[in-house]
Amino acid sequence: MTAVAGAVAGAAYVVAALLFILSLAGLSKHETSRRGVTYGIVGMAIALAATVWVVAAGALDGPTAATDEATASTDGSATLGLVLLVGAVLIGAAIGLWRARVVEMTGMPELIALLHSFVGLAAVLVGWNGALYDSGLTGTLADIHHAEVFIGVFIGGVTFTGSIVAYLKLSARISSKPLMLPGKNALNVGALVAFIVLTVWYVISPELWLLVLVTALALALGWHLVASIGGGDMPVVVSMLNSYSGWAAAAAGFLLNNDLLIVTGALVGSSGAYLSYIMCKAMNRSFLSVIAGGFGIEAPRGAGEEQGEHREIDAEAAADLLAGASSVIITPGYGMAVAQAQHGVADLVQRLRGRGVNVRFGIHPVAGRLPGHMNVLLAEAKVPYDIVLEMDEINDDFARTDVVLVIGANDTVNPAAAEDPGSPIAGMPVLRVWEAANVIVFKRSMASGYAGVPNPLFWRDNTQMMFGDAKEKVEEILGQFSRV
Ligand code: TAP
Repeated sequence: MTAVAGAVAGAAYVVAALLFILSLAGLSKHETSRRGVTYGIVGMAIALAATVWVVAAGALDGPTAATDEATASTDGSATLGLVLLVGAVLIGAAIGLWRARVVEMTGMPELIALLHSFVGLAAVLVGWNGALYDSGLTGTLADIHHAEVFIGVFIGGVTFTGSIVAYLKLSARISSKPLMLPGKNALNVGALVAFIVLTVWYVISPELWLLVLVTALALALGWHLVASIGGGDMPVVVSMLNSYSGWAAAAAGFLLNNDLLIVTGALVGSSGAYLSYIMCKAMNRSFLSVIAGGFGIEAPRGAGEEQGEHREIDAEAAADLLAGASSVIITPGYGMAVAQAQHGVADLVQRLRGRGVNVRFGIHPVAGRLPGHMNVLLAEAKVPYDIVLEMDEINDDFARTDVVLVIGANDTVNPAAAEDPGSPIAGMPVLRVWEAANVIVFKRSMASGYAGVPNPLFWRDNTQMMFGDAKEKVEEILGQFSRV
């Protein structure tokens, strides 16, 4: 029975791994993203069912018939394992469903950071379990096992505390200012060198105090790596921690001899690293310095001093301007998410297109607070995918555009990034909205954006400010359309 269970589970794991790969492929395009999510859900359901099945088969067969996955049955604890597993799945599913229902889209990064911390903690616990449990291995296999334990605990520990700090910073429970310890880079490099030395030591002589030491080292390093990074760079950090959590899961997979965990961990680890690379490019950060941590260059906050006169526009004048335009580009940002203005924006687009205006969206890769934030909101409001363009696809078109509506975006449309080498965000690629004939900026005040950098766009001759909540203002403009 358990041999059959093992074979069935093995086959199910292969199917689940393939579904995860298809899921990632599907998620890379708007048109296929729903299918991608479905593949992911089915893959995870199969993986969970197979795991429960293996443990259940071990429990039913009693202490003598054990598989690799249900080794606990050898000491008669498989039934307890099954009870714990089912209990954990039920509790986890209940908490997961509740969090997914109540979380605000803007709170996703901090929730993701918290979830990563669980993966890190699980890897540490699996590593410790692997060390305390007699694997019965000898020779080179035992050496490999000890290395797996040590590496798993280290990656897991770094992921655990790093994710906790990211969560605390993103949820504003601690200051997002970077911690500037003297010689912080030397501290990080020193910790890595110490880890390598300790790993070799542990493989030669696996003593428990070395594991205690590397656990403490990893926890301290994770804390320091993320604490030394400023709030503005947190998106990259969350994505990097996503990658670390994948490698931590893969390390746990080696220890548990679970192929699916290895494959899934590697998928998460490599896709997270690639996403971080894309975000680094979008924010003009050095990828290597992010991996090394402590690249925390915090933009000076609150330096929103006036640089001239700004002009204001009301809904009536904005509606007139839009009615006379033949091409309009909308660049949404975090403020659209805060105001939940996407449905009004979608109505506005429909009205304008109905009048023959060429309307498109320009999406910056780090607009909002999480990758794809704007795309998700626009998809929710049923905006057609083919008019939602990426920054590189649309940047050359601003100069030929009559009106740009900047809806709750700030850093991602800041000309200082392109024109002022002294700016803290100098070099960050931005949407060149200021090249259009007219720019209307929807926001509530003259306050700076997430990076805390003043935005000279607001004082440009072709810019007009529309102050107020983006949703209310868009609805006011829609109201004016019945007039024009
Ligand atoms: P931000 O620079 O964050 O600016 C958002 C603007 O929205 C603010 O200036 C704010 O001005 C306005 N706003 C807020 N609530 C509003 C409301 N109810 N109605 C109208 N306006 C409102 O936005 P962005 O251009 O999207 O840039 C994103 C920033 O976040 C970047 O610096 C990026 O690095 C960072 N970040 C990105 C991510 C990812 S992965 N996307 C994750 C974390 C951080 P008022 O207060 O004056 O209204």
